[in-house]
Amino acid sequence: MNNDKIIISPSILSADFTELGRDVKAVENAGADWIHVDVMDGHFVPNISIGVPVVKSLKKTAKVPLDVHLMIENPEKYIGAFAKAGADIITFHYEAAKDNINGIIDLIRSFNLKVGISIKPKTNQDVLIPYLSKIDMVLVMTVEPGFGGQEFMGYCAQKIPYIRAKAPESLIVQVDGGINDKTAKICKGLGANSLVAGSYIYGSDDIKSAIDSLR
Ligand code: DX5
Ligand code: ZN
Repeated sequence: MNNDKIIISPSILSADFTELGRDVKAVENAGADWIHVDVMDGHFVPNISIGVPVVKSLKKTAKVPLDVHLMIENPEKYIGAFAKAGADIITFHYEAAKDNINGIIDLIRSFNLKVGISIKPKTNQDVLIPYLSKIDMVLVMTVEPGFGGQEFMGYCAQKIPYIRAKAPESLIVQVDGGINDKTAKICKGLGANSLVAGSYIYGSDDIKSAIDSLR
């Protein structure tokens, strides 16, 4: 299993948006591997966050890959814009892709980017099986997408071993929602090798220790 290195992707949803450059640098200096960018449209999820112009600005300052999590309907309409703005990994939601999963995978690939598919808590992991050999990452949501600072839902993490068992060794399994030092341990034990954390990292007085505690 590709689990010797844990990819830490701090979510800037919990950063101070008036000091975004500073807050990106802070996690990079503390060893963050990626920057997780939560894009919400107010339709797929009941919240609106940030979009293409912010990714474009982040690209100028970020030294690590931008891990863009699209919580939006009709992701195919916006993937080109996010790719051109500088996304390195684009993850879309299975539930938003309707019957066009393969088309969306190919679209992201056409920009030479890494492809991720995410499932919400109530979505069964079985739906991912046909795609596991075509994508780079599965993102298992461990909260209902839409907001930072929610409590980890343990039953969602139980999907990980099944996904691992069916997937090529190289697949990255990322978890997102309610991740802290304790829940990180649970997820890693189940086979996750990438962790998104927003409030735990940005809410900490010592960002480096917070990131180190997830590894
Ligand atoms: C939730 C987002 C998460 C969120 C995680 O919809 O996808 O990335 O920022 O926040 P925490 O780590 O605070 O649960
Ligand atoms: Zn996210």
